[in-house]
Amino acid sequence: MSKEYAIAVIPGDGIGPEVVRQGLRVLERVAAAEGFAARTTVYPFGADHFLKTREIFPDKAFDEVKGHDAILLGAIGDPRIEIGLLEFGIIAKLRFELDLYVNLRPVRLYAEHLCPLKGKTPEDVDFIVVRENTEDAYAGMRGFFKKGTPDEVATQEIIFTRKGTERVIRYAFDLARRRGRGKKLTLVDKANAVRAMDLWTRTFEEVGREYPDIAREHAYIDAATMWCVKNPEWFDTVVTSNMFGDILTDLAAMIQGGLGIAASGNIHPGRLSLFEPIHGSAPKYAGKNVANPLATVMAVSMMLDYLGETRAAARIEDAVAGLLRSKRIPSLGSDSGLTTEGIGDLVLEALEQKAAV
Ligand SMILES: NC(=O)c1ccc[n+]([C@@H]2O[C@H](COP(=O)([O-])OP(=O)(O)OC[C@H]3O[C@@H](n4cnc5c(N)ncnc54)[C@H](O)[C@@H]3O)[C@@H](O)[C@H]2O)c1
Repeated sequence: MSKEYAIAVIPGDGIGPEVVRQGLRVLERVAAAEGFAARTTVYPFGADHFLKTREIFPDKAFDEVKGHDAILLGAIGDPRIEIGLLEFGIIAKLRFELDLYVNLRPVRLYAEHLCPLKGKTPEDVDFIVVRENTEDAYAGMRGFFKKGTPDEVATQEIIFTRKGTERVIRYAFDLARRRGRGKKLTLVDKANAVRAMDLWTRTFEEVGREYPDIAREHAYIDAATMWCVKNPEWFDTVVTSNMFGDILTDLAAMIQGGLGIAASGNIHPGRLSLFEPIHGSAPKYAGKNVANPLATVMAVSMMLDYLGETRAAARIEDAVAGLLRSKRIPSLGSDSGLTTEGIGDLVLEALEQKAAV
């Protein structure tokens, strides 16, 4: 009997539903070709649902989502709703309550012409960022005092725990070993100014002793952004904190061609995990059929890789890479001259051709 995976799908807001639709077409096609099944359950949470019902993400639905093998998310966020309300109530809820402590971001350039950096080739831009995903300023320990007055005080705590730091660093060392590329792990922090990050320095050192085959490098976040532009080939596997990872991975997305291709996994190894494009809901493009769905297609590839369907995952990646190299998909923004659906059609066509070889 063929294997069946239960996938919870949250298309979300803005361009989310459009790009997820294409991701699901690709999932269905590759599943049929590789002989497994994907049973999807679509959840309506996001701005429209909130405006209609005042519900953000009810516990009953959350418990139901927990019974799936993986989650595919489009994007959350809408200008009609208070900033952060849905992002926190849906994305952060999933990350924290499912303890998805690894945010995994492959940074791979598929075709030289997509890179804004002069003279950099696909060989130069091929690294992976492991961003801690449950702590730092994002833990939500914040407050306002004398709000709205000239004496206002606003605080938000940056928190790091030994457990949280160690588990993500250990994951990154294991990943550097598995990738086997440069066998190098770079710690990115700001321990010279944010002294609490001394915890990262010490943990990296201690855990690193258990991985004598992995070279240890270090860069402060300010220098890391500079290296990312000047010498991206310097990176192999990178581990960093939540906030620095958030920023560094958007910069990294640009050197791989743009937000239209960048995907991520929110992972608790061995447990239910979530996959998504890193872009947001891009409200200005919502409903216009111009958003590029490739980041979601690549999120589907990451999800299948995580579920153990490595051949299916590689097939999707090969199809996307081929379309970009041949310039049949000439760019990754809304200016490609192709529709969201048209790009989905091209990926399906490329998957067919691969199957026929
Ligand atoms: N994980 C998430 O769901 C997530 C992530 C980031 C932002 N957000 C939310 O999304 C909303 C909009 O945020 P933003 O404007 O800062 O970021 P965004 O990623 O939505 O858009 C930034 C710009 O990138 C371009 N872009 C993004 N995705 C694209 C695609 N697939 N195809 C073509 N062009 C694309 C567009 O020019 C867009 O205006 C906010 O509410 C924000 O909170 C959600």
